[in-house]
Amino acid sequence: MNILVTGGAGYIGSHCCKALAAGGHRPIVFDSLVKGHRENVRWGEFIRGDINDPEAIESCLERGRVDAVVHFAAFIEVGESVADPLAYYANNVGGTLQLLRAVQRCGVRNFVFSSSAAVYGTPERVPIEEDHPLNPLSPYGWTKRMMEAMLADFGRAYGLRWAALRYFNAAGADRSADIGEAHDPESHLIPRVLDAAIAGRPVDVFGADYPTPDGTCVRDYVHVSDLAAAHVTAVERLAAGGPAAAINLGQGRGYSVMEVIRAAQEVTGLPVAVRISGRRPGDAPVLVASNRKAREVLGWTPQESGLDHILRTAWAWHRKLKGFARPGGADAH
Ligand code: NAD
Ligand code: UFG
Repeated sequence: MNILVTGGAGYIGSHCCKALAAGGHRPIVFDSLVKGHRENVRWGEFIRGDINDPEAIESCLERGRVDAVVHFAAFIEVGESVADPLAYYANNVGGTLQLLRAVQRCGVRNFVFSSSAAVYGTPERVPIEEDHPLNPLSPYGWTKRMMEAMLADFGRAYGLRWAALRYFNAAGADRSADIGEAHDPESHLIPRVLDAAIAGRPVDVFGADYPTPDGTCVRDYVHVSDLAAAHVTAVERLAAGGPAAAINLGQGRGYSVMEVIRAAQEVTGLPVAVRISGRRPGDAPVLVASNRKAREVLGWTPQESGLDHILRTAWAWHRKLKGFARPGGADAH
């Protein structure tokens, strides 16, 4: 299939392009590079463009004879969305509306969307099933919830076949260490812990007074290559006529912030000091997925999402990105 990948120059999108190409598909990356990196585009054609520009999208869809769209392009920072909701609703919801308009005009039927565990808000039950109430805590989470609603309406009215994949905490990097996570600013825990390890400075722990076993937040870390594999299956399933669905993607097991920091010390062999600071607004105490539906509907089981493997691949990528070599060259990791 010819597949337009919006946001394909970003972290998760680039891993997805690699997996799509390995699966015999032709990714066409459509990315404005507002956050992404040109060097991440290694599989398929690159078109620099903004999803807020419907004519540019329509020309790509027609010229590339596109069978399906995989839509990653979005702003992704929860805290920034609280400070600047206009930017988030405009880029995420407004941009997705333009994209959907182009998709409809060009008769593209299959659409896979990057949703998020942020649609759930503070969970009433853990592990979280897909029918859990949707009560986002931030404008970012609301944009994801609204975009899911748009897809459902387009499905009902125009016959769009869609899948909303609700990722929990994307982490890790491709085994090659050629692509990986490089956000600016970087707010995610694992790259921040690795940065702290390299710099020899403490990492902030946002709250140690949560109702969790060690007081720090518990998250479900899922390897980016497992996410990529799920997209390939999801798009193939839609193209084969599979029904619309919202599906959680998580490993189904949670780790606390302190557990991640301890595991990162093991993997890097470097000490990481901890500075307990205040809670970060909008953080739920525990977010852990039920991945039962992903297993049943997509036949998906996470292969690379063990915490140790996530951290090893993240470290291999991160140290390359930062040009870090261990003092003295003794580098067994
Ligand atoms: P990323 O910032 O690395 O990638 C997003 C890409 O979209 C970037 O390359 C950026 O340049 C592009 N983009 C943004 N706005 C655009 C626009 N208007 N037009 C064209 N391109 C645009 O982010 P990521 O971590 O790879 O996240 C990808 C998707 O997954 C996002 O939709 C995000 O909300 C979702 N998600 C991520 C996580 C996570 O843990 N990283 C968790 C849940 C959901
Ligand atoms: N954390 C720290 N110190 C840091 C960074 C993070 O203690 O320096 C903590 C956070 O408070 C949180 C946990 O580590 O408890 C994980 O934080 P991340 O920023 O790595 O990830 P989030 O859980 O906030 O966000 C991720 C995705 C979002 C998505 C959300 C819910 O990045 O896109 O999961 O699915 F919305």
